[in-house]
Amino acid sequence: APASDLADLRVAVSTGGTREPIDPVRYLGNRSSGKQGVAVALAAADRGAYVHLVAAHVEGTVLDRALHHPRIAVERALTAGEMDAAMRAAAGEADVVVMAAAVADFSVREVSDVKIRKEDGTLTLDLIENPDILAGLVRDRRPGQTLVGFAAETAADETELRERGIRKRARKGVDLLAVNRVGWTQGFESGENAVLFVDASDEVTARASGTKSAVADALWDAVLRLR
Ligand code: C5P
Repeated sequence: APASDLADLRVAVSTGGTREPIDPVRYLGNRSSGKQGVAVALAAADRGAYVHLVAAHVEGTVLDRALHHPRIAVERALTAGEMDAAMRAAAGEADVVVMAAAVADFSVREVSDVKIRKEDGTLTLDLIENPDILAGLVRDRRPGQTLVGFAAETAADETELRERGIRKRARKGVDLLAVNRVGWTQGFESGENAVLFVDASDEVTARASGTKSAVADALWDAVLRLR
């Protein structure tokens, strides 16, 4: 891709997996490494965009390059609630928003101030649903703003994956949904990814596979075709 085809575009990207506290030492988390979202941020910045990267938990050194990139500002948001506030603020100043974070769907209703102890062999956690951040961004969308979501789906085959992606794109109301297949052995810690891009035409308009950085470049190509 040309080096500056995103010049001066302001983008907000979320990445990583949120962690919902249970007590001072425990959380509910997920297997997101943050690699794909960071790759999306780096690709945009390398193509000239100004990037506000909101990062939940990411693996190891995944954030390192982003932290030193002159066109990326990194903010941390560790829980779904923090991510919601950070992304609302970031979206207020963004031409394109990409929600690549794996946001916990539920949080613990009453977080314990003290470490929960083993008592009678079972423990029940009362969970409440978190707001869908992306749905809120779609509701409050700025004129001309492009909204992009990710969907990690388990699917038996390519047809099921495509149908799930098309339904989710419509339900979420985003301009573009990057759909990737996940499973016990697929999609998370890996440096590679394979995605389908679905837009408001309700069709798969592009596919990308390979390194997460190649997938990120394909995402920006797809965004540019929509703007
Ligand atoms: O519905 P599902 O969780 O599969 O949707 C995934 C997309 O929605 C991702 O872009 C994710 O970042 C976003 N999301 C969100 N807030 C949530 C859950 C998911 O913004 N509470």
